[in-house]
Amino acid sequence: MSTPLPDTLCYLNGEFTPLAEARVSVLDRGFVFGDGIYEVVPVYGRRLFRFDEHMARLERSLSRIRIPNPHTRTEWLALCRQLVEKLAAAKGADDQLIYLQVTRGVAMRDHVMPEGLVPTVFMMSNPLKPATAEQRHHGVACVTARDFRWERGDIKSVSLLGNVLARQISADHGALETIMFRDGLLTEGSGSNVWVVHEGALLGPPKSEHVLEGIRVELLRELCEECGVAYNLRPIPEADLRAADEVLLTSASKEVLPVTRIDGEPVGHGALRGKPGPVYARLYEAYQQAKRTMSI
Ligand code: PDD
Repeated sequence: MSTPLPDTLCYLNGEFTPLAEARVSVLDRGFVFGDGIYEVVPVYGRRLFRFDEHMARLERSLSRIRIPNPHTRTEWLALCRQLVEKLAAAKGADDQLIYLQVTRGVAMRDHVMPEGLVPTVFMMSNPLKPATAEQRHHGVACVTARDFRWERGDIKSVSLLGNVLARQISADHGALETIMFRDGLLTEGSGSNVWVVHEGALLGPPKSEHVLEGIRVELLRELCEECGVAYNLRPIPEADLRAADEVLLTSASKEVLPVTRIDGEPVGHGALRGKPGPVYARLYEAYQQAKRTMSI
């Protein structure tokens, strides 16, 4: 059974309308081709977290698929804030997750990009569901799979069938995320970046066209510097992930989460085997602090 749609307002092409009543054309290229991009921006205490970084990535995604940015930074900020206030007033939710999507617009079906289309802009916000105490204290389970998605994971595209298929593998195993490898090297999760702790250092895959540059990739570099944790982006062979001291996930909604089981095997060594580790604990605390200081 799917959950019923929330009775909240959304934004569609210049108007705020009830989410359940918002409609786009069947010829919208987002519907026909998945021809569009999106962003997910966390909100804490009604303030937008790392907003400018999200706007910079939105701009990168749009320019990579040649859609003109329909709004200035100031306009996006005003729209986001209106959405946040409306949801806060209706539901009392101060912590939220904004979803915003831009598609190429409406046209007769043709693979070639038509000139002069008006992009479709859709935004909604929902209460942010924080990780549970159980997830933070005991960690989460993940499974692994070959990265069978396309080669442009750097574009935050709404064409997410590969990610949906990948995520379902973990759902079918009662796990939270599917960690993927391409040519034997770690790429990312279906909806998160994946990190390995080795000898006290935090390691992530290098920036490439195969991986989405999560907003938390740069944030974790800053937090590691603050906490005195070494930070390095370099190719991570599958064996290094399986032999890691700690494994972490990051995303807008997950923040930073410890992974304590991979394919049924406990992560880590010695007394901390199968338990969240010290690097996770420090980064989690630093992240909570950052939420207060980096939101506008
Ligand atoms: N997912 N990699 C993939 C494939 C993702 O979909 C996401 C985020 C990330 C992490 O990016 P960020 O730190 O900017 O959230 C990495 C979002 C939250 C989603 O699709 O809902």
